[in-house]
Amino acid sequence: KGVSEEIEQFQIDTKDSLEKFRLTFISKKGKVTELFDLLKQVPNEEKRAVGAELNVLKNAAQAKLLHFTEVFEQAASQNASSGKDLTLPGIPDLNGTRHPLSMVREEITQIFERMGFNLSEGPEIEDDWHNFTALNFPLNHPAREMQDTFFIEKNPDIALRTHTSSVQVRVMESQKPPIRTLSPGRVYRNEAISARAHCVFHQVEGLYIDENVSFADLKQTLYHFVKEMFGKDTKLRFRPSFFPFTEPSAEIDISCLICKGEGCNICKHSGWVEIGGSGMVDPNVLENAKIDSKKYSGYAFGMGIERITMLKYQIKDLRLFTENDVRFLKQFTFLG
Ligand code: PHE
Repeated sequence: KGVSEEIEQFQIDTKDSLEKFRLTFISKKGKVTELFDLLKQVPNEEKRAVGAELNVLKNAAQAKLLHFTEVFEQAASQNASSGKDLTLPGIPDLNGTRHPLSMVREEITQIFERMGFNLSEGPEIEDDWHNFTALNFPLNHPAREMQDTFFIEKNPDIALRTHTSSVQVRVMESQKPPIRTLSPGRVYRNEAISARAHCVFHQVEGLYIDENVSFADLKQTLYHFVKEMFGKDTKLRFRPSFFPFTEPSAEIDISCLICKGEGCNICKHSGWVEIGGSGMVDPNVLENAKIDSKKYSGYAFGMGIERITMLKYQIKDLRLFTENDVRFLKQFTFLG
């Protein structure tokens, strides 16, 4: 009886006291074991009843031992999972980011979409008609050499388009005025790769054809674009130029955003950087696309997306765009 109470009242609150419990009652020298040894001295006719009582005692001791062993094991495993080490490095975020040129292209198209331009695209492998002839480049005329062309086939000529002006022609051939469209895309020129030039780059072409479109419309549209894209303080200037498909033609310059007009290598100390070409669509081009040049007039412009991106984000080497160095690319995540 006394031992039974002792077993019940024995306080187990640590692993040490659990071991003490085992030693006190169940081990070879434990109290329960000793009682079993005393069984020999019990008279034969009582052995059965006393033996049964001792078994009850032994089971009680073993059950308590088992119960507390489990309690301690569970506590230990819970501690292991809740005790997370917050100083361990996290799982890295392996998501990629959009390319800065894609994001700037989108910024450009959004500005023009707000002015009512829609988007259009054309093929990168182009025939002579759409890249040159319809754009008023006379056959065997040196103007064709303004743009060093990658030819794919000769006679009839198939080439990688040298500018997005080819898309102008495709749109004019397939749509009736009023036309107000923007065509972003990749273009190719057989040029040596340097910090300022590449054989693959991107342009965005703008085309507006309607009745009474004037050079003032062209200027106002580009003024608005430049202020939206680069900020209110950016200056814009038109410099007389020549393109076979526009008359008159003008180069589009903006004030250098890298040196803020102080003069640097990017603007070659002039304070101005060219971002593209523009002009009034030559009547010959309208007629080539079967648009009545007496009724309609229009303007066109073509700008370099790399150039715009470089000015906006102070990037001084064009080659960075195609090297796929994540240290460069990751810097543009803020653009979304
Ligand atoms: N296509 C010309 C170029 O690549 C740019 C341009 C487009 C000029 C439209 C005038 C009008 O240099």
